[in-house]
Amino acid sequence: MEITNENPTSETILDGSRFVRACLRRPVDRTPVWFLRQAGRYMQEYREVRKHHTLVEICKQPDLASEVTITAAEKLGVDAAIIFADLLLPLEPMGLDFEFQAGEGPVVHHPVRTADDVRALRTDRASDLDYVARAIQKVATHFRDRLGIIGFCGAPFTLASYMIEGGGSRNYINTKQMMYRDTAAWRMLLDKIVKVLEKYCLLQVQAGADVIQIFDSWVGALGLSDYREYAFEASKRLVRAVQAMGVPVIYFGVETAGLLNDMASTGADVIGLDWRQPLDEGWRAVGHNHAVQGNLDPITLFAPVEILELRVKEILRAAQGRPGHIFNLGHGIVPTTPVENVQAVVRMVREFHQEATRG
Ligand code: CP3
Repeated sequence: MEITNENPTSETILDGSRFVRACLRRPVDRTPVWFLRQAGRYMQEYREVRKHHTLVEICKQPDLASEVTITAAEKLGVDAAIIFADLLLPLEPMGLDFEFQAGEGPVVHHPVRTADDVRALRTDRASDLDYVARAIQKVATHFRDRLGIIGFCGAPFTLASYMIEGGGSRNYINTKQMMYRDTAAWRMLLDKIVKVLEKYCLLQVQAGADVIQIFDSWVGALGLSDYREYAFEASKRLVRAVQAMGVPVIYFGVETAGLLNDMASTGADVIGLDWRQPLDEGWRAVGHNHAVQGNLDPITLFAPVEILELRVKEILRAAQGRPGHIFNLGHGIVPTTPVENVQAVVRMVREFHQEATRG
């Protein structure tokens, strides 16, 4: 039988290409699967490494970052490996010090609050982030084409919110104040962030990232008008710049039901969906001319296996076998998640395909 691109078989589809093909809405032999925050504290192997190193130390040592990335992907048997790094790493070359405080999450020591603070940020040192590229290179050398390799960065809005709030936030009062009251400073800040992220993503793509995921984790804090006025344009610019590097882009946010159609207008190849909306409804809002990624509630990983299976199948049925679905969670795995349930989901996604083709 002649094997063509549009008739994928298990002989032609490697795990990595299955994932990249799904990003591009090409037919695949089965739904690819990976997990947001798949390397982390829920995994014994990661906790062992963390006993001896801080989070930032792991990120900055390519041997450690690549080891943690590879171990998690292999233990789970997923189709893609996301590089072990953190959203906040680009803050340092921009001139902002931060640390992770136990139980508190990230803390930025001198948050950006005024136009002068924005002016002081540097945009000429993105190459300091080369350690992430070196880690990607090691992961790419290890997996070759067996797994898709995902590089990532924060979206302009979400990174700006960390810089301005100085950490996580409930109401984003300082961020929104700058948006509304000093719009020129806000726009200058987003411009500077995009400039650094473009270089950072290029480093990652050149090192072997097959896909870039842009995390707009906190963009759901914005209403639609504010998203359009204050966040969309910078995200779109970053999406287009990364696509011009020759890789697909996944654009992810949480609590974004009202923003999905506009997020898709950035031109991102794949839109991440959280679990608050059924996948088919989310996909309709995004538009079927984009791929989607999601959308199991990460806390369902604590449910009895029968319930977990029900929810996994519900998501796969909602995708209706349409090309362009990547199975994932609606947000990251939390620290006390049982690893065996994450592995069970990988099996379920595979078995569902076998059942569907048998039946
Ligand atoms: O496996 C992977 O997914 C890759 C690793 C990864 C980390 N951070 C490592 C990490 C990724 C993709 C991120 C992205 C990231 N970092 C995001 C976007 C993803 C999302 O969840 O929406 C955000 C918002 C951050 C900022 C950040 N870093 C927060 C809010 C925290 C949590 C603080 C806490 O203590 O819970 C972190 C810390 C962090 N980054 C951990 C890991 C594995 C856990 C802390 C640790 O190991 O000490």
